[in-house]
Amino acid sequence: MIRLVDIHKSFGKQKVLDGLNLDIEDGKTTVIIGRSGGGKSVLLKHIIGLMKPDSGQVLVDGVDMTRLNDRDLNEIRKRFGMLFQEAALFDSMTVGENVAFPLREHGKMKEEEIWQIVADRLRSVGLSGVEEKMPSELSGGMKKRVGLARAIAMRPEIVLFDEPTTGLDPVMTEAINQLIMDTQKNFNLTCVVISHDIESIFRIGHRIAMLYEGKIIEHGTPEEIRASIDPVMVQFLSGSVEGPIVIM
Ligand SMILES: Nc1ncnc2c1ncn2[C@@H]1O[C@H](COP(=O)(O)OP(=O)(O)O)[C@@H](O)[C@H]1O
Ligand SMILES: [Mg+2]
Repeated sequence: MIRLVDIHKSFGKQKVLDGLNLDIEDGKTTVIIGRSGGGKSVLLKHIIGLMKPDSGQVLVDGVDMTRLNDRDLNEIRKRFGMLFQEAALFDSMTVGENVAFPLREHGKMKEEEIWQIVADRLRSVGLSGVEEKMPSELSGGMKKRVGLARAIAMRPEIVLFDEPTTGLDPVMTEAINQLIMDTQKNFNLTCVVISHDIESIFRIGHRIAMLYEGKIIEHGTPEEIRASIDPVMVQFLSGSVEGPIVIM
């Protein structure tokens, strides 16, 4: 469904993506791992068309996202949901208005219909009846849940998660992992999840891809990744300071 072909992206002299190739399978969860500052968020922004590569293609069902005009890009974006790092809720809006935001932006729906969908999506993330609360009244885990409710508001086919469990305690981490797995299954989603948390990776990933020095150096099932003998992979998974990964 999504195919990244030979993506190059630099900021000034800094090469972030350097000939990256990746196929993302339909109806599965692909987890992307890699070092902080390694380009994972940049990669995710390319998938949803928020950034354009210097060269290369981002194919969604064969359509090259990088060549679309704004109107067509907007159309194809309806198929995507995204949960940004830090959930990125609008602080001045109620929870309900946050979840309603993409519905108002993309659809011509009646108020009644909007609030029905908002209630339904909040229910599916286990947060019924919080429409009137402000984001500042919520815990970190609840904010992530609201972010997820907003990401699936338009019933997307593809949902991108940027570090959904970073900064959460182990119990909340497991709750969010469970929610991602349930949501993926219930809505039959194609998910792309960025994560640093080794336990979460193996828990939620049907496929795992390692981004290193601007390329995907390994991509496979959790079993394949666990069995990897690639020195970068082995060092990353074990969290060792000894190995090819240069510590800066
Ligand atoms: N809009 C931007 N302008 C300039 N540099 C950027 C921009 N976005 C990201 N970068 C740089 O690209 C590198 C990769 O960033 P990022 O994708 O956020 O890493 P991470 O893997 O931690 O998500 C970083 O060095 C970052 O400073
Ligand atoms: Mg990031």
